[in-house]
Amino acid sequence: MTDHPTGATEPADDAGSVLADRTVLIAGATSASGRVLARALVDAGATVIAVGSDQGRIDALVAEIPGVVGERADLTDGDDVLELAMRVHAGVGDVDGVIHLVGGWRGGGGIPGQTEEDYRVLERSFTALRYVSRVFWDDLLASPAGRIAIVSSTTVERPTAGGANYTAVKAAAESWMRSLTQGFAKAESPAAAVTFRVQALAGLEARLAASVVDLWRADAAELNGRVETLSA
Ligand SMILES: NC(=O)c1ccc[n+]([C@@H]2O[C@H](COP(=O)([O-])OP(=O)(O)OC[C@H]3O[C@@H](n4cnc5c(N)ncnc54)[C@H](OP(=O)(O)O)[C@@H]3O)[C@@H](O)[C@H]2O)c1
Repeated sequence: MTDHPTGATEPADDAGSVLADRTVLIAGATSASGRVLARALVDAGATVIAVGSDQGRIDALVAEIPGVVGERADLTDGDDVLELAMRVHAGVGDVDGVIHLVGGWRGGGGIPGQTEEDYRVLERSFTALRYVSRVFWDDLLASPAGRIAIVSSTTVERPTAGGANYTAVKAAAESWMRSLTQGFAKAESPAAAVTFRVQALAGLEARLAASVVDLWRADAAELNGRVETLSA
């Protein structure tokens, strides 16, 4: 595979090489979508680092998909994230991709039902995004094909009263991604920040995984700042 200054990669001869020499960290890897994504990335030739907060679920994922590097970290804890980055850099090296899947849902009850407790739970997803993108920022900038992606929600375009907390946090995450977009462009780095939106992930796991792998088949300049809605 040949790298271009734009961050594009040559079309792969086969599906097993598009991510050869690339290391991708999945932040929140043990859900159904994370496991399907980990498998797709491994099949595409990537070194995959799967991160979650529960050691048992990480161990199960590593047993299910040989070759995956499992890492336990609470991605909402700044010290934990720093220690994770040190272990990754010492053990595997710099990463070329960060796919952020830490999410969660709380809602209902109209506007009066948008409780502080629910907001604090939802906000953890945004906190984790901020931590992982900061700690791996230099890796992404320096990579010949740095990529970072999140899965947001179609409700950002059509917020509801009952989902106000959830959608506000997703909108904040999308704003953060636009900041990363500007940062990559300003640095003239062949890196890209991409937001996927879904209404619901169930049934779309393989579609999401294929779209993530495709991030390494496209030019960074075309990808950087893209917001793409995935549907069945
Ligand atoms: N599911 C949907 O229908 C839907 C709809 C729209 C958008 N999305 C978004 O799509 C993404 C993926 O959703 P999902 O439903 O597959 O996953 P999810 O249930 O939101 O969680 C994804 C992963 O995050 C991990 N995680 C949670 N807290 C963590 C922490 N503090 N530190 C490290 N890892 C943590 C979980 O594993 P552990 O608990 O083992 O740590 C899990 O593997 C999310 O951003 C979600 O908001 C989902």
